[in-house]
Amino acid sequence: MKPSIPSRRALIVAAGASLLPLRSSLAAGLVATPPQTEGPFYPTSFPADMDNDLVQVRGQAAQAMGTVLHLEGRVLDLNGRPVEGALVEIWQCDAQGLYNHPRQPGRERRDSAFQGYGRMLAAADGRYSFRALKPVAYPGRTPHIHFKVATASGGLLTSQFYIAGEPGNERDGVFRGAVRDPRQRERVEMKLAPAPGLEAGALATTMDIVVG
Ligand SMILES: [Fe+2]
Repeated sequence: MKPSIPSRRALIVAAGASLLPLRSSLAAGLVATPPQTEGPFYPTSFPADMDNDLVQVRGQAAQAMGTVLHLEGRVLDLNGRPVEGALVEIWQCDAQGLYNHPRQPGRERRDSAFQGYGRMLAAADGRYSFRALKPVAYPGRTPHIHFKVATASGGLLTSQFYIAGEPGNERDGVFRGAVRDPRQRERVEMKLAPAPGLEAGALATTMDIVVG
């Protein structure tokens, strides 16, 4: 009988699993994700659809305008241990730079096919994932995605993600105020890569959120 050959995917999964204990032990003493202002555009009311796919609103055929960004990662503590059950929220402006918020001038022109806000619970291994948009600039701010993490033990972190290599980051007051140590940059700067395997034309990034 021909021996069964494990699939490439099974090998990748097995390799990943064997690395986990090592990765966790090496991760001790992680740099925490720096807190940043919530800003004025956290929702005052939540959309009927607030799942982790911001690009598709339930019941609507149209998809949001803009470049899709698959944002995923783990919620970890300072020792690199996954924080299970943490509530992860994100919110961002649409592809035109408009938030779905009463304080947003021109709100009526916003893209109604964009959910703008989403939330999910981190899994047992700390993983979270969102189908979001590559953030765009709006007056006074470099592109960013807001996020908030509430842990089951009562911890709360509010912060923002940016695009690595975006020249506007260095001129952005919120970014400059948060990134005081160079090691904090990797906690808030997203390295974007094409993700044709996930979705045509989409980008992807992995951002672990380290809560202190
Ligand atoms: Fe913002």
